[in-house]
Amino acid sequence: MKTIFSGVQPSGTMTIGNYIGALQQFVELQHDYNCYFCIVDQHAITVPQDPATLKQNIRSLAALYIAVGIDPNKATLFIQSEVPAHAQAAWMLQCISYIGELERMTQFKDKSAGKEAVSAGLLTYPPLMAGDILLYNADLVPVGEDQKQHLELTRDLAERFNKKYAEIFTIPDIHLPKVGARIMSLQDPTKKMSKSDVNKKGFISLLDEPKQIEKKIKSAVTDSEGIVKYDKENKPGVSNLLAIYSIFSGKSIEELEKEYEGKGYGAFKGDLAQVVVEKLKPIQDRYYELIDSPELDEILDRGAQKATEVASETVRKMEKAMGLGRR
Ligand code: TYM
Repeated sequence: MKTIFSGVQPSGTMTIGNYIGALQQFVELQHDYNCYFCIVDQHAITVPQDPATLKQNIRSLAALYIAVGIDPNKATLFIQSEVPAHAQAAWMLQCISYIGELERMTQFKDKSAGKEAVSAGLLTYPPLMAGDILLYNADLVPVGEDQKQHLELTRDLAERFNKKYAEIFTIPDIHLPKVGARIMSLQDPTKKMSKSDVNKKGFISLLDEPKQIEKKIKSAVTDSEGIVKYDKENKPGVSNLLAIYSIFSGKSIEELEKEYEGKGYGAFKGDLAQVVVEKLKPIQDRYYELIDSPELDEILDRGAQKATEVASETVRKMEKAMGLGRR
């Protein structure tokens, strides 16, 4: 059976962008692959985090993984910092990464632009991510489009290591969703929807209440044309809403365009809000059952144990290949 690895940062509550771009795929893929799904808390601290909030976000993300349909009996769900092999692998991979290639990463450029104090961790974020993936010899990595460049670097680092030291890594492939690989901000449809956006109206979190969802969709930026039509270039706002509607309702974009012919944005947005509310309701119900349950801790303990077994074996091989230690 082939292996999958993917991760989500606990840097805020997951958005419908994370759900559409990543989580929804995880749920489908878990039946056919040996899956590792990670809460990448070490990635989250590459930018400042409030410790108490981070702790809450970690637990909340774990509950959300399960609430959206990850079956912990099928997939291994764990917290990155609870498996020390990740930091160990990251260090070794940092030592074969070049500063130049790390500085070229668009995420690094975006996150460091205009900032005075940029952590070294923000620059070395990609080798930590490469370690996540390579430790489990993942064949496939389901992610949204924004992670494509990091995946390419992961492949380069794996090839570099294999060539320079020993053939121990599988070269992973990226798996992008057919639709929804990049859900855009509701307030600025030229920017991706992000859980760490300071403007909370730009995203819908999986835990937003119906009233908030309605408000956010009603105030989503569109255009003055009043025609519900998919045209990414000229109508990015409407196209983004159509993509969300289509994915959550199962109706095709063409069907939706027909349904809203001559109806304007008011009716379209009102119906979309209902579709989103209904989609999120069962996820939220399950989330609130789980969040304070000891079951969640048991799942994460088991996950960390299983992940440690596999990952520490890879670290041992990496160290041996690089000549570290005595054995
Ligand atoms: P993160 O936490 O930003 O996002 C988690 C996943 O959601 C996808 N995503 C989106 N998809 C569509 N539209 C959007 N607006 C949108 N926003 C986010 C992301 O592409 C991602 O798949 N570096 C990663 C976490 C990570 C990781 C890994 C992923 C660490 N190690 C190893 C895969 C494998 C990140 O910051 O994702």
